Amino acid sequence: MRMYEIIEHKKKGKALSKEEIDYVIQGYTSGIIPDYQMSALLMAIYFKGMNIEETSDLTLAMAKSGNMMDLSLIRGIKVDKHSTGGVGDKTTIVLGPLVAAAGVKVAKMSGRGLGHTGGTIDKLEAIPGFKVELTMDQFVEHVNKHHIAVVSQSGNLAPADKKIYALRDVTATVDNISLIASSIMSKKIASGAEAIVLDVKCGSGAFMKETEEAVNLAEVMVDIGNQVGRKTVAVISDMNQPLGYAVGNALEVKEAIETLKGHGPKDLTELTITLASHMLVLGEVCSDIKEAEIIIKEIIKNGKAIDKLKEWIALQGGDVNAVDNYELLGKSKYTEKIILEDTGYVYSINAEEIGRAALVLGAGRENKTSVIDLTVGVVIHKKIGDYIREGEAIATIYYNETAQQKAARSILTNAYVITQEVPKTPQLIYKFIG
Ligand code: URA
Repeated sequence: MRMYEIIEHKKKGKALSKEEIDYVIQGYTSGIIPDYQMSALLMAIYFKGMNIEETSDLTLAMAKSGNMMDLSLIRGIKVDKHSTGGVGDKTTIVLGPLVAAAGVKVAKMSGRGLGHTGGTIDKLEAIPGFKVELTMDQFVEHVNKHHIAVVSQSGNLAPADKKIYALRDVTATVDNISLIASSIMSKKIASGAEAIVLDVKCGSGAFMKETEEAVNLAEVMVDIGNQVGRKTVAVISDMNQPLGYAVGNALEVKEAIETLKGHGPKDLTELTITLASHMLVLGEVCSDIKEAEIIIKEIIKNGKAIDKLKEWIALQGGDVNAVDNYELLGKSKYTEKIILEDTGYVYSINAEEIGRAALVLGAGRENKTSVIDLTVGVVIHKKIGDYIREGEAIATIYYNETAQQKAARSILTNAYVITQEVPKTPQLIYKFIG
């Protein structure tokens, strides 16, 4: 087999065989196939597309390029959740203890943040002492006994995806549905999930800006999951404004804890309950979404959710006192309220820009080696449809450096569009697939 011929096939729009795809992934991961040939193939895929069979073959080939987690020592169905990335998305920290308290096994590998979107592992590190690395034995024991463990993704999980993603990033081939779907699903499959709930974000703060694109991506990922024997469903949810109010690591942990205590923002609470209910059904805790919702709401109300959070934090070495004393999560030195000159209704918010404001304050990574500040970020006070009166703040900036404060202030003041007419508030959940 020759890479030249494989590129030629795809250039002419032919479907690649499983053998050809395996050859490409093995060859590229091992370094036999050079970047220039892989780039040419990626661009051919970008223009000619891949059918669902090719996309599934690519997913499996990438999943098998490194360690495939064997979670067979964990009893019961392991259900995972994946978000395609957004601003203020702290659902994993709320969902994990919620579904674990309901009896689902959460054996989760999460990532760190990059660019305007945050990552669960960085957020968890805002809890003093919380360890995001466990031995395999500890991981298995925690999930078997306590139903929950969340660790940082291992370096050898789907290495082909890591290498290809870096190449896509510099060859303008990221935004292709088959490539995105196979990239995400390869990591989920390699990390051993038997059932997967996908939260596909859509809007100004998401990868997919339009609903149609998000639905398309969700359908392909659900198809891949089901083709490779993992029960997969997807929820398409709104990302035209941050989820909840807090954006930034310690600030988001605090909001997640408040949600588990039953005092969370409406949108975060509603989305978490929806995703958790699907996890309960896939985990065969119950057979009906409505019944699952009742169970989840009761677990929040009777305090089992917050108890499970404390149990989980203690198991991973974190300071449980932080759940009731938020000062322990760390605080930025300074704050500033952002006040606009205009009054009126919030017509739209550029969510990506809110993420960028948090990023410039130091809450996120410009590149993979950036060091982040867990205490800084933004808390917005006004969401789409809210009225801003004279002198009312739209947001508060939490900062440690004046230069960063100025940059974030300028980004935030431009991220809001104000009108005099009452705008339509976006629907939180657009669609369910699967
Ligand atoms: N997230 C991934 O993991 N891969 C993509 O291609 C896009 C988003």
